[in-house]
Amino acid sequence: METAIPTTIVITGASSGIGRALAERVASHNTHLVLVARGEKALSSIVALCRQKGAVVSPVVADVAIAEDVERVGVAASALTGAIDVWVNNAGVFQHGAVDTITPDKFARIIAVNTLGTVYGSQVAIRQFKQQSSGSHLINVASALGAVPLPYASAYVTSKYAVRGFTASVRQELKLEKHQNIAVSTVMPATIDTPIYQHAATTIHQPTKPLPPVYSVDKAVDTIIQVMDKPQDEVYVGGVGLMTKLYGISPKSAETIMAKYAKRAIFQSYDGRKHEDRSGNLFVSRSEGKVSGGWKHSSDQLKQFAKLGAVVGSIGIWLLFRRKERV
Ligand SMILES: NC(=O)c1ccc[n+]([C@@H]2O[C@H](COP(=O)([O-])OP(=O)(O)OC[C@H]3O[C@@H](n4cnc5c(N)ncnc54)[C@H](OP(=O)(O)O)[C@@H]3O)[C@@H](O)[C@H]2O)c1
Repeated sequence: METAIPTTIVITGASSGIGRALAERVASHNTHLVLVARGEKALSSIVALCRQKGAVVSPVVADVAIAEDVERVGVAASALTGAIDVWVNNAGVFQHGAVDTITPDKFARIIAVNTLGTVYGSQVAIRQFKQQSSGSHLINVASALGAVPLPYASAYVTSKYAVRGFTASVRQELKLEKHQNIAVSTVMPATIDTPIYQHAATTIHQPTKPLPPVYSVDKAVDTIIQVMDKPQDEVYVGGVGLMTKLYGISPKSAETIMAKYAKRAIFQSYDGRKHEDRSGNLFVSRSEGKVSGGWKHSSDQLKQFAKLGAVVGSIGIWLLFRRKERV
């Protein structure tokens, strides 16, 4: 689908995965990009790629969990053309581990990067947007796990539920203040094949893998680009509709099904090696400038997911009928 790419775009978390692929896709002779990450080397490689495609690029080495760093991003963005068209808060970190095994500093750090990083970015963006007469757009990348919980990822789930609620609140505020020219969208991807799972912190002493089905980065980027063109309050990437619907109808059943499915699907069989706790990229960048994490995509796993879909669907229908019978 042809979409009109806006001119000045800020992308946080541009050195790896979704942010990197998005930067490469939107880069052209017409775009001014502000690309943000902590890892200088991985950031410079995407900056070079985008410049080759004709974009004017301002790299900003910054930690989104530090408000002053995010202010610098805003200054760099405003300096490019005087206006910011789109600001994408995409930087994020992931964690696997039982709630009682995550140290307070790691739990706090996940909230600081994922939630506060989005808050600081949104504040700087909206302050600038309010001064502009041209249309502008805040896009916050939350997660499907901001709508349906996953076990052994409590800090991440907490951070993404917060991003979703925060973004909706901002949207309400701007509507009340009649800022019709400022759009606010939340993008909620299901599992995407990026290096986030290799970068993740973990306290699980065995190998883990992402929750299937796994979708391509292209699918996430396609959605973000479509949203840039036509803002949407909330949009999912990947097939999570059934589970979110069931969660709306019967949270208890959805929690149980998701928990059992996740436990089976996430833990890889024990490989005989001792796996230590690791803090992954929570405190330092581990980005190697990759887009894919090398995980199998959904087409390979569709059969497995279809089975889950059939079970979830049947339970959902059964619950609906039970509810109707009671009315
Ligand atoms: N992949 C999935 O399955 C999935 C599903 C749902 C939602 N998401 C969300 O999508 C977003 C992108 O994730 P991804 O999968 O592309 O992960 P990724 O490949 O690990 O990339 C994460 C990006 O965020 C940056 N980053 C991390 N901490 C940062 C910090 N404190 N300050 C600045 N930048 C920071 C990283 O660069 P540096 O380390 O160099 O700073 C990197 O560029 C995240 O918000 C994630 O939660 C991903």
